[in-house]
Amino acid sequence: MDTLPEGDFQVRASSPDGSADLGDIPIGASFFLRVKNCLDRLEDGKVLEVRTKRLHARDDLRSWCRIKQHQYLGDLEGGTEARHLIRKGERKTPDGLPDWGIRIPLRGDGSLSIRDWFAGRAGRLMENAPAYVGFVPRGTVSEPGVPDYGFTLNRKIDVWADNIAELYEQAKASQWNASTDIPWAELPALPEPAERAVCQIMTFLAENEYSALYIPAKFMARINSHYIEVLMYLSALVQDESRHIEAFIKRAMAGGGGLQYSSVLTERSLHSLFVQEDYFKSSFLLHVLGEGTFLDLLGFIRDHAPDPITEKVVHLARLDEGRHVAYGIAHARHVLAREPGMVRALTDAVEERREYMEAVEGENSHVIEALSVLAGGGDSPERFQEGFRQVENLQKLMYEHRIQRMLQVGIGRETAERISASHTPNFM
Ligand SMILES: [Fe+2]
Ligand SMILES: [Fe+2]
Repeated sequence: MDTLPEGDFQVRASSPDGSADLGDIPIGASFFLRVKNCLDRLEDGKVLEVRTKRLHARDDLRSWCRIKQHQYLGDLEGGTEARHLIRKGERKTPDGLPDWGIRIPLRGDGSLSIRDWFAGRAGRLMENAPAYVGFVPRGTVSEPGVPDYGFTLNRKIDVWADNIAELYEQAKASQWNASTDIPWAELPALPEPAERAVCQIMTFLAENEYSALYIPAKFMARINSHYIEVLMYLSALVQDESRHIEAFIKRAMAGGGGLQYSSVLTERSLHSLFVQEDYFKSSFLLHVLGEGTFLDLLGFIRDHAPDPITEKVVHLARLDEGRHVAYGIAHARHVLAREPGMVRALTDAVEERREYMEAVEGENSHVIEALSVLAGGGDSPERFQEGFRQVENLQKLMYEHRIQRMLQVGIGRETAERISASHTPNFM
């Protein structure tokens, strides 16, 4: 590479594509660091002019070029400065050059939205991302040699949802504070049956929220960082679940009743979610079926809440859950639109879970009773019976709404009915 004739003629005849003025930086590490970085900013085959007041740099530059597989073209000394020309070797930046001049557009209100940041290199999403993309932000020019991080969810279809940027922006705009946004001081003293029912329901809700926090968190480090928007969204979702746990436990304890009973049915149901290692199945079971069913449950509790604090807590949590369900629906729809046969994985997952659940005797007797007391407005036999009828109607509504959500996903009605009927009696 370094055998071309050198000298004034070639140097004069070459017009450089870039220039590096190194002044009197001494020949050493920082000298070559600057030369390297200036070459990085050129395309392969282009010529860099290096200007230096160090008049004896020639031999060092020549040997550096040989080692780095660039082509030293020659030098020209004049007065107090020398000019050296270097042609950049091939395959120095296999990933191309960085963007320059591409801006995220400002929105009308002066904000920069993640909805608009899919621009230039940063906006180029691969269908299959190599695991050795590491933590290099999408759009960055990566030096070869990034270690394999061992991500296992490396395809866009594995995790993507078309509304992901929208959901992330909504999630940030909808954060609330379970310490200060609930007027805890205004919690009234309730009749004991009502307070007991609220405490039981809050216990159940908090327990289920643990699974909603743990399960997405379990998958996050497996998702290729190329799809960073999904991680950003899931981190907001995990924060939502953390706040729900906090708010439900606080409501249980704020009135002096405290946490009540857990059932094996609930724990078994949540465990069957927790051990699911397939993200597609897990996302469908948790977000579409589980959290979807919780939308109805939280709406029911809100409508029958015996005090404004309980009403507000479940109302705010329900708004968050709407976003979680929206991700689950959009992700499943994204998958089934491309690979319709994947519906089989979903029916299998629900079926396996039903079998696992049937292996245990048990019911959510405390939860059903508490919901009935709230809906009936008391625990007398008449009121309880009236409330129990309403809980039965709630379960029919949950069944219907699950089917509707599956139709949105793109699942046929017959399959959707079968899946909805097999859903866990724990709701989540
Ligand atoms: Fe939640
Ligand atoms: Fe959730």
